Amino acid sequence: MDYRPRLALEAIGLDSAVSSRRHAWRRRRWEMEESGRLQSVVGPRSRLTIFLKRHLFRLFHLGSPPIRLQRLHDAWSARAKEIDFVHHRIFDPGLPKAFDGYRIIHLSDPHFDALPGIEERISERLAGTPADAFVVTGDFADRHGAPPGDVIEPLSRVLSSIRPTDGVFATLGNHDSWGHAEVLQSLGMTVLVNESFVIRRGADSLVFTGTDDPSYFFTEAAPAALRAAPDGFKVALVHSADMADVAAESGFSLYLAGHTHGGQICLPSGRPLYIDLKRFVEYGQGIWFHDDMVGLTNVGAGASLLPYRFFSTGEVVLLTLRRGPRGTDRVPTPGRDQ
Ligand SMILES: [Fe+2]
Repeated sequence: MDYRPRLALEAIGLDSAVSSRRHAWRRRRWEMEESGRLQSVVGPRSRLTIFLKRHLFRLFHLGSPPIRLQRLHDAWSARAKEIDFVHHRIFDPGLPKAFDGYRIIHLSDPHFDALPGIEERISERLAGTPADAFVVTGDFADRHGAPPGDVIEPLSRVLSSIRPTDGVFATLGNHDSWGHAEVLQSLGMTVLVNESFVIRRGADSLVFTGTDDPSYFFTEAAPAALRAAPDGFKVALVHSADMADVAAESGFSLYLAGHTHGGQICLPSGRPLYIDLKRFVEYGQGIWFHDDMVGLTNVGAGASLLPYRFFSTGEVVLLTLRRGPRGTDRVPTPGRDQ
């Protein structure tokens, strides 16, 4: 990963309409990317780890592989584009009646520039799915500072496949640059950077609160945003599960995350070789519970650094919120699962 932003300040328009808070965030994010002084929720990230990841990626893309290896690459990367459509129902006794049956499509970690064509598979999976909200929890890009076109074109294809009634909401991941926020907003997405968006149905409200990525770009503004979320049925959109405790303590009912890719490279048993979480490693994939809050760590749609998945399948997730005793279940989706 190259943490130096390549998007020029002028290219994304630092205009006067941008609030001073968002402007301060941009400056701080840019400084972290530029300096390479990255911060997880538990402290500084190792520069050595980042260096090794970046050079592993560059080494892989050096030159053309021999034909036999090319065939292997083609087969493996095609396999990595196979995506499951997963439907969970989330039951919560505190869900307002007006939001009983509310449908959220959750996409995470598409890494569009790592697996060209992944957008077609995502779109096929989502096509015709009725939804109230579409949320994406980061890592639109793989290469940090990827040119806007690497994200705009595939993301536009995905956005054209569904029509959520209440809109599209996004947070940034550790691979996304500060400039990508404006790229996403130019496509009509609501980017939540340490802020909340309230959806009202009569006297009831559902609140989406999104933070900046806490795994590499943690600042105190992220937990502060969770603590300051307005009243309502609160849904946290955070790139990683690292802040599950803060969200639960702040009255959130649902926490949607990604980041881990479910390990991406797993043993035949499905056990991940590595889960990139500094806290709550047990929340590395799937549904989990933290106090009264339900969490979901989406295993992601794409692949990072290496364009492969071994014994791990990507996913897009539909969540239906239901009023009832706390719990979850998985709804069979005939013809849509792999
Ligand atoms: Fe990712």
